[in-house]
Amino acid sequence: MAKTADYELGPHMFPRGWFLVARSDELTDKPIALRYFGQDMALYRGQSGTPHLVEAYCPHMGAHLAPNATSYIVRDREHVQGESIRCPFHGWRFGPDGRCDDIPYSSQAIPKAACIRSWTVAERAGAIWMWYDEEGGAPDIPLPAFAEWDAQDAGWVRWRFDDFGTLPAHPVEIVDNMADLRHMDPIHGSRGETYFDNEFVDHRVSQSFWAGHRTLVDDSPDAVLSSEAFYTGPAILQARLGGQHPSLMLIAHTPVEDGVIRMHHALMVKIADTRPSEEQKASARDYQEASRLALAQDVEIWLNKRPARTILQIPTDGPFGRVRTWYRQFYNPRSDAATFRKRVNGRDVRVGTARPAGALIDIRREEELTGGF
Ligand code: FES
Ligand SMILES: [Fe+2]
Repeated sequence: MAKTADYELGPHMFPRGWFLVARSDELTDKPIALRYFGQDMALYRGQSGTPHLVEAYCPHMGAHLAPNATSYIVRDREHVQGESIRCPFHGWRFGPDGRCDDIPYSSQAIPKAACIRSWTVAERAGAIWMWYDEEGGAPDIPLPAFAEWDAQDAGWVRWRFDDFGTLPAHPVEIVDNMADLRHMDPIHGSRGETYFDNEFVDHRVSQSFWAGHRTLVDDSPDAVLSSEAFYTGPAILQARLGGQHPSLMLIAHTPVEDGVIRMHHALMVKIADTRPSEEQKASARDYQEASRLALAQDVEIWLNKRPARTILQIPTDGPFGRVRTWYRQFYNPRSDAATFRKRVNGRDVRVGTARPAGALIDIRREEELTGGF
């Protein structure tokens, strides 16, 4: 297992950005334990339903704030009160900002040290996303809007997340895929590429790829799958796929430890022009399954490969070095991000000349589709 330092990505162990940390449906009214970025965390919903994410361990005597079924704090439904979480051990209570706001058996001032870390979170498109920044700054990269989530009346079927679990891979190996033109034929069954490019725009990078495909299109010889994939920040990859149905794929990978990630996949499918029937929803789920299987082909390689600290690159590979330089901006102080962006911004075309007509994305425009944060 190789670590951030082995790839010489920068001084930060983990990248700055937005990360998927839980599915909305796994966070009920019970706090849950999470581990990401080498830290134990407690995720809970306040009584308003808003999710909050705080450090796991109580500063009093170190109890975990989340998993407990037997304490009378939990049985008496005092575990979450308002937007605060109460420790199951002696009942100290912490607000979503991490400050202790009640010690039930003390009328003295609450000690300043009675404080835990907390992180900015947002709930969107069926998932809970956290902002992580080793410098502790506010978000400077947008969280995508995933607007199709609210476009059911236009025929979109919402995704359900596929959890690929924990993989012993550094996230840079997943990001390398953006440049990896030459795995498309052997791994994914593409044939007859007509176009491949990467475009770098600040915190975004895209990959546009047109080719025949053995699985996600019908069997006619001239059927073409267009895939336009783009990262917004270091860990949220979306792809607009032409194929049998227009669809939006998501791959989200979050560091668990240095060199270990957890990965989720999902696909929203436009299956009709109006609100989809149950039958159409089932077809969309089948289509998502085909997409999940395509990612599983990559995962099988990642699970068994040794780390590629350096790549033995030849000219007709894709621009791996440029993608890694782009990725380094997230491992360096944000004041240095502009230096990395300046080095990579622009377009690299490896197959074809002009982008085919009917291009689906313009990553600058995708930015306008992002909301909030
Ligand atoms: S350990 Fe949390 S209140 Fe004592
Ligand atoms: Fe792939």
